[in-house]
Amino acid sequence: MIQKMRGTLDILPEQTPAFAYIEKTAREICERYGYREIRTPTFEATELFSRGVGDTTDVVQKEMYTFPDKEGRSLTLRPEGTASVVRAMIEHGRCGGVMPEKLFYLINCFRYEAPQAGRSREFFQFGTETFGSPSPYTDATVIALANDVIRALGIRDVSLHLNSIGCPACRPNYRKALAEYFSRYKSELCETCRGRLETNPMRILDCKSPICGKIAAQAPKTLDYLCDDCRGHFETLKVSLSDLGIPFEIDTHLVRGLDYYTKTVFEFVCGGIGAQSTVCGGGRYDGLVRQLGGPDLPAAGFAMGITRLILAMEQAGAEIPQPKTPVLYIAPLGEEAAKKAIALTHGLRAAGIVAECDLMGRSLKSQMKYADKIGAAHTLILGSSELESGRGVLRRMADGEQREVDFSDAAALAKVLC
Ligand code: HAM
Repeated sequence: MIQKMRGTLDILPEQTPAFAYIEKTAREICERYGYREIRTPTFEATELFSRGVGDTTDVVQKEMYTFPDKEGRSLTLRPEGTASVVRAMIEHGRCGGVMPEKLFYLINCFRYEAPQAGRSREFFQFGTETFGSPSPYTDATVIALANDVIRALGIRDVSLHLNSIGCPACRPNYRKALAEYFSRYKSELCETCRGRLETNPMRILDCKSPICGKIAAQAPKTLDYLCDDCRGHFETLKVSLSDLGIPFEIDTHLVRGLDYYTKTVFEFVCGGIGAQSTVCGGGRYDGLVRQLGGPDLPAAGFAMGITRLILAMEQAGAEIPQPKTPVLYIAPLGEEAAKKAIALTHGLRAAGIVAECDLMGRSLKSQMKYADKIGAAHTLILGSSELESGRGVLRRMADGEQREVDFSDAAALAKVLC
């Protein structure tokens, strides 16, 4: 038997309501904040990610699904959404448009990682990107939006980790301090990080190897190297978050795994859902638009992993709304009645009623069992006498209460059922 590829997900009908609920909640809150949806392609030129996400990151070095197309171009299944949204902004000339441009997306992403609870090779993200504003109040608003979505989903036991990783003015000093620190431990670092020592020592802070992690724990902190501009930005952000009543903790070792961040970085981390506990990650990326060929355009955003949000909701015992169950199940007896049942069900559906009828040729007894199983609120049995009179007995399943109804007109019956 052919099975799905390792690390991919079949999202079965029992699980889709949770996905749909998260998507609906995210959309509603985005609308409240004035964000509009953007959709970008599932695959892009590989160069977009190697230049955008950074070719010293784990994502680019180890995790991308990259393949040549029939004309030999190197393509990559998107490992994240930010680089694509930035490309679309540039490609469609929107960088000079009305600012801020506020966008959100619901996408599938692909990363070749070791699958475990909360981590898959194809996964789903809800994300937002905000362009045009360098203000720390934008960072606060972006974080507030993420916080609102997480809270609206009923997720508890979640903490916001916050850090600033500086800008091109202050980063070189920090990089130098980091390189000096890590070169003392060169022989102990993993092979990838030994290479990063020369190319991008900040990436060592994000290495998943336990030995590198232990060495990184004592490394110099970004906050000690911030320039006045970055320090002022961070201070205003902290005050703004406090004013908005959003609790946070400073996490001096948070650097995020992607290269494009400047100044603010943040993660929402949820307890009790296992090792993959980051439900949301994001930050400011003031240099990326320019780096990808656009003008200087400040930006900030975040993305959340939908399966991790579901784990966090389950953990919190949050309620996930289920799809509507039928208001009426029509049980026909015989061929003539089956014909009428199909037409009546069709008419009720047109009038907005969730209605079902038999499609399996079941006996009356098993039809009733089925109606019970699908949670129908009422049943209506159509036999030959009912067909003749156009009247039948509507039975309320919860308590067995019965009343006679006229079913000759679907719209009139729909009114009775409302
Ligand atoms: P990221 O931290 O790489 O950031 O991913 C964001 C979120 O996607 C993670 O916090 C996690 O919840 C989820 N996620 C990542 N990898 C997996 C996986 N293999 N399986 C399941 N869930 C996963 C970004 O992608 C940035 N583009 C976020 C951003 C937007 N920054 C600025 N704007």
